[in-house]
Amino acid sequence: MTLRAVKGMNDILPDEIGRWHALEAVLRRTFELAGYREIRTPVLEPTELFVRSIGEATEIVEKQMFILKREDESLALRPEGTAGVARAYVGSTLHNREPVSRLYYLGPMFRAERPQRGRYRQFWQAGVEIYGDPGPGCDAELIDMLVRMLSGLGVQNLRVLVNSLGGTETRARYREALAAYLRPKSAELSEHARRRLEDNPLRILDSKNPQDQAAVAGAPSILELLTPEDRAHFEGVTRGLGALGTPFEVSPGLVRGLDYYTRTLFEIQTTGAEIGSQNALLGGGRYDAMVKELGGPDVPAIGFALGLERVLLALPAAAAASEPRCFVAPLGERAQVEALVIARELREAGVPAEADTRGGSLKSLLRRADGTGSRLCIVLGDNEIERGIVTLKDLAARSQIEVPRAEVVLRAKSLLASAPPAGSSGA
Ligand code: HAM
Repeated sequence: MTLRAVKGMNDILPDEIGRWHALEAVLRRTFELAGYREIRTPVLEPTELFVRSIGEATEIVEKQMFILKREDESLALRPEGTAGVARAYVGSTLHNREPVSRLYYLGPMFRAERPQRGRYRQFWQAGVEIYGDPGPGCDAELIDMLVRMLSGLGVQNLRVLVNSLGGTETRARYREALAAYLRPKSAELSEHARRRLEDNPLRILDSKNPQDQAAVAGAPSILELLTPEDRAHFEGVTRGLGALGTPFEVSPGLVRGLDYYTRTLFEIQTTGAEIGSQNALLGGGRYDAMVKELGGPDVPAIGFALGLERVLLALPAAAAASEPRCFVAPLGERAQVEALVIARELREAGVPAEADTRGGSLKSLLRRADGTGSRLCIVLGDNEIERGIVTLKDLAARSQIEVPRAEVVLRAKSLLASAPPAGSSGA
């Protein structure tokens, strides 16, 4: 029986990796230009970390964590990056050394969801977390950076949704107001929402169930319950976005699936058809209480995370061009050793090169060279070695020249630097 990968967990094959590398390079460049530094945290964390930060009564914690029990420890594969980064921040000396820490991360996350297009059980996130800046300008700047990055990548039809959940006090008041509004309608709610009504009514606003959506349609808006401080903060965010010329919609129904958020909340979606129903490309918000709750100082925080698979689905499918390569094809035993030396010399000069020492006829070696997508093929046999030359074939131009052995690296480099002839595949 052939073994398959775990459902919802995908291999990323070499043919696809160019697009990933290109996206990762844009993400890193964008973050680093804005002063973020990379942090790498473990893939496994104590289960307790996610229960405490994401919230017990959330889909993620209730149903979606991959949990490993080992002796008396319960560990979970991280379903997201924020909790681990906050734990690392609290445990490090970063908060003593710098007033504001700007961190970014990139890596796989795990959620046992029902897989479908754009929704996987292992997926890749890139995100940032900012510690120490409470001001609304910070929120507006982050959202603006993300909108510009996605537009620059070529993602079309963006929708930028923003909302405020207020501080802990507002949230508590809103929970009550929402529950009071929904209780008389409880017969109309799904069974799941009925359970949520008492333990976490905000989650009902997230429900995809049409019955629940109808029941919450006339629910009070959280924006009406903001304290004056919360309102001033939210107005600061929308004013900042206006000044930066960032398009956005205020969406009072936006709550998102994690319980740690306070004040600003945002999500960027695409309405393009490519991506299907999983149209949220990224989401984030403030979580001003988490650092303290995890035992750290009272430091405000905001961040976001983006799903790489979803952004790749939303991007035009153009294959990323790969760097032109050199294939070294030796004929005979003596040439095989020399081929290894030539390939090494090329690589040391920065030219991607591989020697094929499996033997075979010139025809089969050339077929293999084609198969690797190489632009150049360097052929050498006993005859060439005795004459101190090699044959340099430009596979794209279908031409060949003999060059002195000593000049092979130089000549290969200059040919690779020239454009391949029009109409050739040009590798
Ligand atoms: P999230 O909304 O749960 O937020 O996930 C962020 C993004 O990750 C989503 O918008 C989506 O693109 C991608 N994503 C989530 N689940 C899946 C999945 N099963 N398959 C594919 N992609 C998925 C967070 O994770 C927060 N930690 C964001 C944050 C950072 N908030 C503050 N700081």
